Amino acid sequence: MRLLVTGGCGFIGSAFLRAALSRSSVERVVNLDVLSYSGRRENQSELEREARYRLVVGDIADAALVARVFQEEKIDHVAHFAAESHVDRSLFAAQAFVHTNVLGTLVLLEAARGAREKGRFERFLHVSTDEVYGDLGDTGDVFRETTPLSPRNPYSASKAGADLLALSYVKTHGLPLVVTRSSNNYGPRQFPEKLMPLVVTNALMDRQVPVYGDGKNVRDWLFVEDNAQGIFAAMERGRPGEVYNLGGENERENLTVVRAILAALGKPESLIQFVKDRPGHDRRYALDSRRAHGELGWKPAVTFEEGLARTVAWYRANEPWWRAIRDDSFDAYYERHYGKLGLKEQPTA
Ligand code: DAU
Repeated sequence: MRLLVTGGCGFIGSAFLRAALSRSSVERVVNLDVLSYSGRRENQSELEREARYRLVVGDIADAALVARVFQEEKIDHVAHFAAESHVDRSLFAAQAFVHTNVLGTLVLLEAARGAREKGRFERFLHVSTDEVYGDLGDTGDVFRETTPLSPRNPYSASKAGADLLALSYVKTHGLPLVVTRSSNNYGPRQFPEKLMPLVVTNALMDRQVPVYGDGKNVRDWLFVEDNAQGIFAAMERGRPGEVYNLGGENERENLTVVRAILAALGKPESLIQFVKDRPGHDRRYALDSRRAHGELGWKPAVTFEEGLARTVAWYRANEPWWRAIRDDSFDAYYERHYGKLGLKEQPTA
């Protein structure tokens, strides 16, 4: 397997790099990453010593660069992680989401199609999200792979666009492509703008932790290493043209998650600060992952309690990692944008 991983300096991509390099079936791993704000070189620096591994810094939407990497490295597998992924950011800067998530995906699909036509391309794994299905509200239902896509924010709309484009290449060009849609990931190295690492790092600094709306939105939490295993299994064993939901089977209200983090850190619940709700805030996501369980033989292995303990321990032990991000420029950015969105304001009674 000569594998191109896009976005391997990110949170999920770097967990996947480790999983891939631990397998002897993988002859070569090339990581194409633009090192944007959330792509951290230090997430993979120890891998740079591996002879089978190469980091290429560049944009997936740069067709000439992507073509060169495919040719030079004789790529026959792609695992496509690179994406703008933070919902809040998509509310004030949607263009980058279309550039990377839609245009970047198209460039990769075209490169894979070209390699396929030359007879040497085997599998494209497109990494997606449960957010493309939309919002479950309080119905108690779950998303299945057959649930129609109904994204509700610019981020999820751009991912849904990418999914549809990717699946169209199966039909029109016979590209052997598989899609995974996972639930909320958490674990070491997650950029501290997402709920869990924001709460952990704020609490470690004895700062207030913002909870949007009533805190009763529900997410299904999947430990990042379990997602990496599921994605690898889908790349190896998934049926071309098929979608596989990868759920954590850990549905929790946000407030429950926040309280568990504060308890794990020994911090008081008085740090919780309710703020105005995220515009278009999806109430609940939950996945039916029976297809992945049955066809891929995959199931999450890490319990929520174990995953949370490992996550909190990692942030405690790796303060230089998050301090380098949580600097004055992060605070200035947060003030500017979250102030505008009202995500810093106290709700009025
Ligand atoms: O479900 C998969 C998706 O999970 C991925 O596709 C996205 O890339 C990923 O960002 C995540 O989306 P969410 O919007 O669910 O994640 P986020 O960490 O931003 O928020 C989780 C929940 O916590 C959500 O209900 C909003 C809430 N929240 C978030 C932040 C950052 C707060 O209450 N306070 C906060 O400060």
